[in-house]
Amino acid sequence: MTIPLDTDFDTDFANQIAQLEAYNKHHYRPNSYLHKWWARRCGSTFRLILKQLVADEAQRDYYTPGGLAGKIILDPMMGGGTTLHEAIRLGAHVIGADLEPIPVLQARATLTKVDLAELERAYKRFYTELRKAVSPYFQTICPESGLATAVNYTLYGVRRICNGRDVIVVDSLVLRVETDGSTIRLCPRCHAVLWDTAVCPCDVSDKPPLLEKSAISSEDEVNDLERPFYQRYVPLVLVTRCPGRADTAKRLLFKTPDAHDLALLAEADALRSSLPFAPADFAIEPGRKSRQLTPRGIHNYLDLFSSRQLLYLHHAIQLLPQFDEKIRLNLGLLVSTSLEFNAMLCGYKGKNRRRAGAIRHTFSHHAYSFPYTALENNPVYPRQASGTLAKLFQSRIRNGRLWAQKPRERVIGKRSTVNGKQYFVEIVGERDSGVEVRSVAEMTPDREPSFLLLQGSSTQLDLPDRSVDFIVTDPPYFDSVQYSDLAAFFRVWLRHLLPEAAQWAYDTQESAVDPHQLDSESRYTELMSGIFAECKRVLREENGRFIFTFHHWNPKGWAALTVALRQAGFALVTRYVVHSENPISVHITGMKALLHDAILVFAPAESVNVVWERPSHINLTDSERFCYDCGTFLGWMLQQDGVGETAVLDLWQAALDGE
Ligand SMILES: C[S@@+](CC[C@H](N)C(=O)[O-])C[C@H]1O[C@@H](n2cnc3c(N)ncnc32)[C@H](O)[C@@H]1O
Repeated sequence: MTIPLDTDFDTDFANQIAQLEAYNKHHYRPNSYLHKWWARRCGSTFRLILKQLVADEAQRDYYTPGGLAGKIILDPMMGGGTTLHEAIRLGAHVIGADLEPIPVLQARATLTKVDLAELERAYKRFYTELRKAVSPYFQTICPESGLATAVNYTLYGVRRICNGRDVIVVDSLVLRVETDGSTIRLCPRCHAVLWDTAVCPCDVSDKPPLLEKSAISSEDEVNDLERPFYQRYVPLVLVTRCPGRADTAKRLLFKTPDAHDLALLAEADALRSSLPFAPADFAIEPGRKSRQLTPRGIHNYLDLFSSRQLLYLHHAIQLLPQFDEKIRLNLGLLVSTSLEFNAMLCGYKGKNRRRAGAIRHTFSHHAYSFPYTALENNPVYPRQASGTLAKLFQSRIRNGRLWAQKPRERVIGKRSTVNGKQYFVEIVGERDSGVEVRSVAEMTPDREPSFLLLQGSSTQLDLPDRSVDFIVTDPPYFDSVQYSDLAAFFRVWLRHLLPEAAQWAYDTQESAVDPHQLDSESRYTELMSGIFAECKRVLREENGRFIFTFHHWNPKGWAALTVALRQAGFALVTRYVVHSENPISVHITGMKALLHDAILVFAPAESVNVVWERPSHINLTDSERFCYDCGTFLGWMLQQDGVGETAVLDLWQAALDGE
């Protein structure tokens, strides 16, 4: 029997809303963004896919609530949890699995109903005690009023030896371009902060000169690898606001660190070695992305944090056990995700006054990047400034949970803006939350939407045969994102912040991601085959559909999917293509990036009677056409019997080489 998605998917509508959502996914799905995760799909796209699984036509419209009550939806590679959040809102029971603990913890925290007032009270207590312990190290004297004030962030330059000379390299000597065009800059000789056209009176200085990165070439510069990473940075500027001014007049003040400021840094450094962090617990695990660290003499995640940042983590770890499990989970994830904005890998993008937020966060490139001008944020700064706990609690928890109680959707078309403001409509009757259960047996049709979370490799799903109605997922796109490797940056801390919350010891080699050029053999095909075989085992045969999104230029990725799908016994029913990526995202800007996803709909091969023609060629220039043609070619490949694994790769290689 067919289901609506077999023949119908409103691609135009999907593209319109995805093109808007892709720019600000967390605005459209605030409850799915508690913790950093990579490569999230658009919630609107997955809502549309799930809506085409709804049997009752009256409930199939995008803005109509529900439609999947009593159904069981599985996402075996759930990541940021997009499928779970979309399906539970439509009334379904949802099962999410992931090898990685962060996806499981995040789904548990964001899908579990919590008393927001209780969570806010606990956060206030946690924040107040944490601030009491940590903020003394982030104090300074306001250069205007002489009053004590909190540091918002500190800018550093990196030590280098250039042509045998000790220097300090920065992105730019210009710290700020104000809207009136005036500037705030650094004196390259004595490092003083200068306003606009002011000329620095200094003539000589015993300080290493400041050089702009554009003034040096990488051959000239020598990195002092003996020194721990965080010590390679020299504090140059403290950024704060004058406590004596009215809030509205509180412009940013750029101050050269004085003796008191340097003493506070030294005090924190002196405490560093007494902190209970066993280096072995933070040793860098070999991986495709983490191997960017070792050649730079970084062998331990502790080295990526300043001593004040370690004090922040130490006190957070000390304070968490006083809270109950649900609260502890939310606050632990909040501290963990704050590390993306509170590490010495953070860069500075506050030069242009118009640009929002000063912090270039750690993983803005889906990889590690090493700033010249590093930014050490103050995580307990008492304002909702970028990357502070106050801001993250507001945006990632408070806004998320309020939205979860009243989910809203962007209205597209003629009524898309009201008085120039984007128009969102509440989907009355939907809730982005449910009850956690421990087995699929508890997911009965009459029961309110529930969720079951499984941490582990989905090559072995702890689920009975034929137990789920639909599988909707988005596997790792071959080698695009090294999830387990990148997640180690947070994992090493989460196992101290939330020791009982997850299985922290597990085999990251089970991560179904191609390791690219790493000398280790790729297990992508083998692991995808194992996961797809489990999908076939647990999928209900009658009307069961296995649906996932995918895109990649590399024929190896498509060949791996072909082998895995065929071994599992799936055939392609249909495919659609939808916009998926934000073209100006820094991690794809300037690269020949695919901006679309193929939505691939499979069913057990014995039930598929579609005959796929081999496409005459695959369009290699247009992202949308490329994904569409690859979908067609995949459909045809899955119907070619007796084609061995090598031949499958050869055929894909030939097709994507334009032969
Ligand atoms: C592309 S992400 C999913 C993103 C998700 N759809 C979203 O929108 O947020 C793929 C996920 O597969 C997970 N994964 C990789 N290997 C796995 C395995 N063997 N078993 C289960 N999950 C795995 C990764 O940890 C990652 O979270």
